Amino acid sequence: MNAPVPPAEALRTALATLLDGLPPKQAAQAVDRLIANYRGATPTDAPILRDRADVAAYAAYRMPATFEAVRSALDALAAAVPDWVPAGHVDVGGGTGAATWAVSATWDGTRPVTVLDWAEPALALGREIAAARPALRDARWQRTRIGADLTLDRTDLVTVSYVLNELTAPDRDRLVDAAAAAAQTVVIVEAGTPDGYARVIEARDRLLAAGFHIAAPCPHSAACPIVPGTDWCHFSARVRRSSLHRQVKGGSLAYEDEKFSYVAATRLPVAPAPSRVVRRPQIRKGQVLLDLCEADEQLRRTTVTKRHGDLYKAARDADWGDAWPPCASET
Ligand SMILES: C[S@@+](CC[C@H](N)C(=O)[O-])C[C@H]1O[C@@H](n2cnc3c(N)ncnc32)[C@H](O)[C@@H]1O
Repeated sequence: MNAPVPPAEALRTALATLLDGLPPKQAAQAVDRLIANYRGATPTDAPILRDRADVAAYAAYRMPATFEAVRSALDALAAAVPDWVPAGHVDVGGGTGAATWAVSATWDGTRPVTVLDWAEPALALGREIAAARPALRDARWQRTRIGADLTLDRTDLVTVSYVLNELTAPDRDRLVDAAAAAAQTVVIVEAGTPDGYARVIEARDRLLAAGFHIAAPCPHSAACPIVPGTDWCHFSARVRRSSLHRQVKGGSLAYEDEKFSYVAATRLPVAPAPSRVVRRPQIRKGQVLLDLCEADEQLRRTTVTKRHGDLYKAARDADWGDAWPPCASET
């Protein structure tokens, strides 16, 4: 029997076929147009993803990266609520469905899935590529505008991935409040920029005020120890570049790193990480320097040396974004 295809691979294959038949130059132009639109004034009054070329460009160019970022956030969530499996999922501003792929890659099995977005061409394409993933074949793709009258049906998990950036401040608040009212667990992912982090922190504050606890990345549900304007909490997910990426960005690098900020909050009992590695670890001769966000609400640098034995080995394997120390079975 053939081994099942990993979701990231299945997604790449489904996306590769999208651009079949489209001359490479035209595909690259569609991506350029999209990037220019995203650089323009957002929020907008109408969808940026207007037609199939826009959406195919978005999916082929951005979806592998947003999938990996959400996947990373969900892994950290799953570690903090190890016995939980969402029984339903609503992806708001879900576009072509990157977060639905990430949820189905994190938790086996099927569940009712609804993707909400105001861009019909994005929903149509999302439905088309989801046909390649059995767990998503019955997903509902529903046209919805995030605005004053947004309400969400009750569900276990709401994801909001790379969407807050496109909304006005009142709509961001409405969306987070609607998510908090509908779901047990809410995951918000934004670009790993100072502005993305600021939007995540605003959402985090609202979720805490609604009675949620933080599952990840923070080791506590108190205020973020970062002094506003001095730094921003963000992480990095490795993404295999497609040939379209190489074409648009030039160079021959096989990978690129997607920077993202996120918060996963829940009403369930949680066991957050004891502390979290918040920068790329620095490996020196005989020692590893780890920048940690700790449960006592402090940011600290710790040095792990050879004298620490197994912990030193674990530190050499530790990655930006990991829980620290790893659980006993991993050291
Ligand atoms: C950058 S894309 C992210 C798509 C997807 N969540 C992902 O992670 O790949 C932002 C999505 O938000 C949707 N969006 C933006 N403003 C919206 C609004 N007011 N109502 C509904 N959808 C909106 C866009 O159509 C687009 O699909």
